This record gives sequence, C-alpha cells and structure tokens, in this order.
Amino acid sequence: MAPTPVKRAIVRSYNPSSDFDDVVEICKATAHPSINPVVDILPYIYAIPYVNLEPETAFVLDTGGPGSGPDGEQRVVGYIIGTANTQEFVERYRTEHLMSTDLPNEVSLENSPQSSEESQLRDIFLRILHEPEGMLHTKHPGFLEKYPAHLHIDILPSHQRQGYGGIMVSEFLKKLREKGVKGVHLGMRADNTLAGNFYKKHGFEVFADIKMDGTTWMVKGLKPTQAEDN
Ligand SMILES: CC(C)(COP(=O)(O)OP(=O)(O)OC[C@H]1O[C@@H](n2cnc3c(N)ncnc32)[C@H](O)[C@@H]1OP(=O)(O)O)[C@@H](O)C(=O)NCCC(=O)NCCS
Repeated sequence: MAPTPVKRAIVRSYNPSSDFDDVVEICKATAHPSINPVVDILPYIYAIPYVNLEPETAFVLDTGGPGSGPDGEQRVVGYIIGTANTQEFVERYRTEHLMSTDLPNEVSLENSPQSSEESQLRDIFLRILHEPEGMLHTKHPGFLEKYPAHLHIDILPSHQRQGYGGIMVSEFLKKLREKGVKGVHLGMRADNTLAGNFYKKHGFEVFADIKMDGTTWMVKGLKPTQAEDN
C-alpha cells in the first residue's frame, strides 16, 4: 500500500480576521526562555504593530488544520512580518500603535517597577516598546538608506527545519522587490547560531559596524532583477 502523503503547510498572506491570535501566540511561544517573565510584552513590540500597520508584508504558514481550539492545535504555525520602510514604520508606530486604545494598561511605561531582576527585564522591554526610534539606527548614518526594510520570522518547533522558513523568506523578499526596496536588515540574539546559519543560507551577512550587546545585525542588499535567494 502506498504511504499516506504528508500534508504540507502553505505560505499565504496574513488575514486579519482569522490569524491575529495565532500570530500573538507564536510570538510568545518562540521567545527565548530567558525572557519568559516578560513574554506578555513581546507581541506588542515584535508582532502586533507589524500585522496592524503593515499587513501587506505579513505572511503566515498555514497547516490547513481545523484551527485554534481546546486541543491546542493551531492552524497558523509561523509568520514572517516586517516593513518595507523602517523610517515610515517608526512614525506610524508612534502615532498609531502607541496611541492605540488596544494597548493594555499592563504595558504602559508607568507600570514599570524597578526592584527585582524580573522588574528590570520588564523595564528594558517596556522601554523598547515605547521607544520605537531605536529602530532608526541614528548612530549609523546611511544604514537605513541602504537597508530600509526589516523583518521578523518565527515558526513553532513542530514545523521548524522542514524548509518552510526558506519559502517564507523568499516570499517576503519577493514582495520587497516588487515594491522596489533596495535592502533589508534584521536583528537577532547573538547566541541564536541556528537562526544565524539560516539567514546566511539565504544571503544575509553580519553587519559588524553596529555594536550592541547581545544582538547581531544582519543585512541583505536586494537587486530588483535577482531571481531567488538560495
Ligand atoms: C530560524 C527559523 C526561522 C528557520 O526556519 P526553518 O523553517 O526552521 O528553517 P529551514 O528548514 O528553512 O532551513 C533550515 C536551515 O536553517 C538552519 N536551522 C534552523 N533551525 C535549525 C535547527 N533546529 N538545527 C539546525 N539548523 C537549523 C540551518 O542552517 C538549516 O539548514 P540545514 O538543514 O541545511 O542544516 C525557525 O527555525 C524558527 O522560527 N526558529 C525559532 C525562532 C527563531 O529563532 N526565529 C528567528 C529570530 S531572529
């Protein structure tokens, strides 16, 4: 008897009416364990502003399954999100995302306690959330001109290392090229060697001029005519 074929997940555009909660969950579930105490803040920095402000450059990995439910099965198991223009994104992040009535009180800057180690971590991430201008890299003139776009990608462990990340990056870069974008950057934990290898495989290089403790910056120039990225 022929073996039952394994159903492949597909990469498709983000759908705001069905995918929001899954994206938020993936953002929390794929966070490094060391920042678990502040995991509730992370979607407000690394996921929600992107899907709300830049849905055109948001893609998800869809298993075709029944969807989120009591059995814990999630239909969407990965995303790649970002912006084609970091400068404009930061302006809209400040005027729209930070002003949004959906931003709960728990993540307001006033709620940043100062004592324990956990509170210090919370303080750090609340500052990142409330100071989007950090994304402008003003100490490195020319960086954003050369690499104006940036991205975040996360896939649940059940669907990692099956080639999906590569497909998602290709889809995202294709969209950037269609928009005439010249280059893209990303920041990752310096100790995330597996992700570093993944990005290198897709043509990203370390941008060593930006020195920031614990973060490695990677960049990729985009030629409009370039075929694909493997
Ligand atoms: C990093 C990530 C996006 C890669 O996507 P993916 O679908 O798992 O990767 P692919 O299957 O397309 O590519 C696999 C390649 O990535 C690297 N890689 C990714 N995960 C790996 C793992 N667990 N072990 C070894 N290599 C890994 C390797 O270079 C691998 O190539 P190889 O199979 O030839 O050795 C995904 O694993 C992920 O979401 N990880 C957790 C969250 C994360 O680190 N996000 C990035 C934050 S900057």
